[in-house]
Amino acid sequence: MKELFILAVVTVFTLVTYYLVEPFAHSVMHKHVESEHFAYADLPALTKTGDAARGKDLVMGAGACSDCHSISVAGMPARMDAVTSAQSYGVNPPDLSNVGVVYDAKFLAALIKNPAHALKVEHKYTPESGKEHPMAFFAGAGGDIDQEIADMVAYLQSIAVKQDKLTPKMAFETACGRCHAMKYENWTQIGEKPAFKMKKDELAFDIQVIDYQDALTKYMGKLPPDLSMYIRSRGEHYISTFVENPQHLLEGTAMPRVGVTAASADKVIEHLADAGDTKRFEREEVGKKVMIFIVIFALFSYLWKRSIWKDLH
Ligand code: HEC
Ligand code: HEC
Repeated sequence: MKELFILAVVTVFTLVTYYLVEPFAHSVMHKHVESEHFAYADLPALTKTGDAARGKDLVMGAGACSDCHSISVAGMPARMDAVTSAQSYGVNPPDLSNVGVVYDAKFLAALIKNPAHALKVEHKYTPESGKEHPMAFFAGAGGDIDQEIADMVAYLQSIAVKQDKLTPKMAFETACGRCHAMKYENWTQIGEKPAFKMKKDELAFDIQVIDYQDALTKYMGKLPPDLSMYIRSRGEHYISTFVENPQHLLEGTAMPRVGVTAASADKVIEHLADAGDTKRFEREEVGKKVMIFIVIFALFSYLWKRSIWKDLH
C-alpha cells in the first residue's frame, strides 16, 4: 500500500515537471513560432497562367534578369565574378537555373514585382534611408504586367530540375549559399573550396572569400553565421520557421525571408543535418535497440523480484 502511494507521488511529480514546468520554462526562454506551412498568405495569389516561351524572351530581355544573374542551364554566364558582384550588389545574385523549383511560385512573382516587399526587408529601404534594394524591380514590358511575370515564372519552372532530382545540396546552394558558409561541407559563399596543390593558390582563394565576406558584411550589417552546426544548436523546427519568416523570431533582422517551398525547406534542413548531425541515423537505430533492451530488462527484473520475494511474503 505504502509503496503504491510513493509510486503515485513520484509519478505525479514527474508528469507535472515534464508536461507543465519544462514546456513553460522553454516557452519563456525560447519563443515558439508555429509553422505557416510555407503558405506565404500575405502575398497575392497567382491569377494568370504563364507561357514559358514568352517568359524566356522576358527573362533574357525586358526583365533584365540575366543582366545580374547567371542562368547556367540556359548557357547564360555571369557578367561578373562572385566577388565583383558582391562589391556591386552587396551579395552575389544566385544562379537562376533551379529557382523555379526551389522557390514558391507566388513568392517568385511577388519578388519580381517588389523585391524588398517579398523578402520582408522593407525596413532597410524606407524612403528616408534613400537606399534601394539591389535587385531592380520589374516595371513591366508594355503589356499586362501580371501576365508578363507569370510568363517569366513559367519559364523559370520549365528550366528547373524536377523536385525529385533537386538534391539537398542544390537547394542549399541556391537558397542560402550566397550568404552562409558551411565549413563542414567545404562550402564558402563563393562556392566549394577546391583542393589546392599550391599554398599560394589556396591563399589567393581565401583572400577572395575574405573580400566577398567584407562586401556581404557591409550589405547585411553583420556576417551571416557559418551554418555547419546550426541543426544542433537551433534544431529543425526553429530553422524551418526562421527561414519561413525571419522577422517573427528576430525582429528587424537583415536576413531576408527566403521564399522557399516547404519541400525545398526540408531539403535545406536535410543538408544542414548531413553536415552537422552525421550520426543521426545510427542514433535512431541505437535508440530503438535501447528501448527493446529496457523492455526485456524490466521483464527480467520483475521476474527476479518475484522469485526473491516469494518466500518472504
Ligand atoms: C540589378 C540586378 C538584378 C536584376 C535585374 C535582377 N536581380 Fe534577382 N537578385 C539580385 C540580387 C542582388 C539578389 C540578392 C538579394 C539578396 O540576397 O539580398 C537577387 C535575388 C534573386 C532571387 C533570390 C531571392 C531569394 O528569395 O533569395 C531570385 C529568385 C531572383 N533574384 C530572380 C530574379 C529574376 C527572375 C529577375 C528578372 C525578372 C531578376 N532576379 C532580376 C539582383 C538582380
Ligand atoms: C541574403 C543573405 C541571406 C540568405 C540568402 C540567407 N541568410 Fe540566413 N542569415 C543571414 C544573416 C545576415 C543572418 C544573421 C541574422 C541576425 O543575426 O540578425 C542570418 C542568420 C541565419 C540563422 C541564425 C539565426 C539565429 O537564430 O541566430 C540561420 C539558422 C539561418 N540564417 C539560416 C538560413 C538558411 C537555412 C538559409 C537558406 C534557406 C538562409 N539562412 C539564407 C543572411 C542570409
